[in-house]
Amino acid sequence: MKLFLDTADLDQMREACRWGIVDGATTNPTLVSKTGREPRELYAEICRLVPGPVSLECMATEADAIVAEAQQLATIAENVVIKIPIIPEGLIAVKRLTALRIQTNVTVVCSPLQALLAAKCGATYVSPFVGRWDAMGQVGMEMIRQIKTIFDNYGFATQILVASARHPLHVLEAALAGAHVTTIPLEVMKQLYQHPMSDVIIEQFVNDWAKVPAKG
Ligand code: G3P
Repeated sequence: MKLFLDTADLDQMREACRWGIVDGATTNPTLVSKTGREPRELYAEICRLVPGPVSLECMATEADAIVAEAQQLATIAENVVIKIPIIPEGLIAVKRLTALRIQTNVTVVCSPLQALLAAKCGATYVSPFVGRWDAMGQVGMEMIRQIKTIFDNYGFATQILVASARHPLHVLEAALAGAHVTTIPLEVMKQLYQHPMSDVIIEQFVNDWAKVPAKG
């Protein structure tokens, strides 16, 4: 499963990309607003840093305007993926962008049927928001499992990009469900490395190595 970093913060991108496990990135209007940066300039820097697809969100709401905005965003770099919210006008635009060979990520997906519609329009990715589902007292991962079944049933090539992931269990369950990608904040990516048992064992090895005489 691919791991994307869910941030627009360049320092976080630099830190995580050093680790060699980042396959791409996702941004959204909220994350961009936190940086205080001019978007297009920021997007260009993100696309240079990240070794893989970078989702940039369209803010237009009518199909012609979405396509025009997407075409502008796509000129920023070759690894741009156009993020489009799941609205009827958005899916009209997705179909047209697919024909133009511009990659798309249908976002704010909150039901398996929305994911089906996005796949029918040729979306490259769908982004179901699992953490938001959990916050409503529902099991977000059930949506992922249902989307996986639907896509497998009909052979859709659209990739399932688990979004709004809040903790390592979301990442584990996404991988077990066969999702193609999970996008996570830097803090969750750091947590994936951690286990108290590993810390104890590493400390023991370091201490025992100190007792070994005449090293080297
Ligand atoms: O970038 C898409 C998504 O991961 C953001 O989710 O719920 O953290 O706003 P959320």
